[in-house]
Amino acid sequence: MSGDKIIPIVEVRNIAKRFERSPDFAERIASVFGARFDSRTVHAVDGVSLAINPGEVVGLVGESGCGKSTLGRMIAGILPKSAGEYWFEGVESANWTPAQAGEAKLQVQMVFQDPMSSLNPRKRVIDIIGEAPRVHGILPRDRIEDYVSELMLKVGLDPAYKRRFPHQFSGGQRQRIGIARALAVKPRFMVCDEAVAALDVSIQAQVLNLFMDLKDAFNLTYLFISHDLGVVKHLSDRVAIMYLGRIVETAPTDKLYAAPNHPYTRALLEEVPQVGAGKRVYEVVKGEIPSPLNPPTGCHFHPRCPHAMPRCSIEQPALREISPGRFSACHLNDEEK
Ligand SMILES: Nc1ncnc2c1ncn2[C@@H]1O[C@H](COP(=O)(O)OP(=O)(O)O)[C@@H](O)[C@H]1O
Ligand code: SF4
Ligand SMILES: [Mg+2]
Repeated sequence: MSGDKIIPIVEVRNIAKRFERSPDFAERIASVFGARFDSRTVHAVDGVSLAINPGEVVGLVGESGCGKSTLGRMIAGILPKSAGEYWFEGVESANWTPAQAGEAKLQVQMVFQDPMSSLNPRKRVIDIIGEAPRVHGILPRDRIEDYVSELMLKVGLDPAYKRRFPHQFSGGQRQRIGIARALAVKPRFMVCDEAVAALDVSIQAQVLNLFMDLKDAFNLTYLFISHDLGVVKHLSDRVAIMYLGRIVETAPTDKLYAAPNHPYTRALLEEVPQVGAGKRVYEVVKGEIPSPLNPPTGCHFHPRCPHAMPRCSIEQPALREISPGRFSACHLNDEEK
């Protein structure tokens, strides 16, 4: 903590999340006939370490089900971890004072994919945006209305509409309401989970531009989660690639796109769709994504990897620095030495 070392806003070390899954109907029937099912635990996040520095935009990418939202929710502090460490501004959560715990909660906010289901349909916009600053006493009651108007302007909404309900807005406008609500508690860090995925392509670009404008205006730091490498390319300083609960590669964005190291990243990049006039089509890497209920041994990617060697199914490759600022978890990096 001394000298000019940068202290990350949020850092997770070896963080994990396991969900216990109850047996489905077929399994319950089968168990009546004596079948056994031991794989009830979903390893949604399996030992992830990631530090996000002030002012950084980190993209988190991977196929659906790989654990992005679970990791994002733990980083945003709204989902308890099963194991590992969570640090906020250089202090581990176990050592927080009550004031630090409160700060960590407010300073890290989350923007969700689907604004319709994350906004209370029975509340007016003024109450949706104004609730948290009121509850947390961020400013006096009689200033809340002006504050909401200010925030609406900042996110490109007309304050004249502040007494309307969410359903009276378009999808893009609702996402702006969600963003204003997150901004209202003056966070330093926002976790944006597929924040534009539900929007039309033309609206996506507008909302992405808004995120970048707000970053400058409010000095924000982002973890930008997307299943689409194309979306994070233009806004991230650094990208982390996730596969089946683990980070397999992280690198500065330009390096990652120009010369991906990990075979999974390479496969993903080969399949980045063209952004045409019409719909984006996103094809997953060949082969089924294995189940996090029963993940493959060794390197999780080995059943789909074109370069798999015998040790890949036995030994888990460590995420290690292969060039400055660039980390990859693949045994090929040892072989080449
Ligand atoms: N509340 C939950 N209970 C049980 N399993 C869950 C829960 N949330 C997520 N999972 C499982 O954890 C894995 C990772 O999910 P998620 O984090 O949503 O992935 P992503 O956001 O990358 O699509 C999936 O297998 C998902 O089914
Ligand atoms: S460790 Fe082996 S299986 Fe995993 S990505 Fe590298 S070469 Fe492929
Ligand atoms: Mg998700």
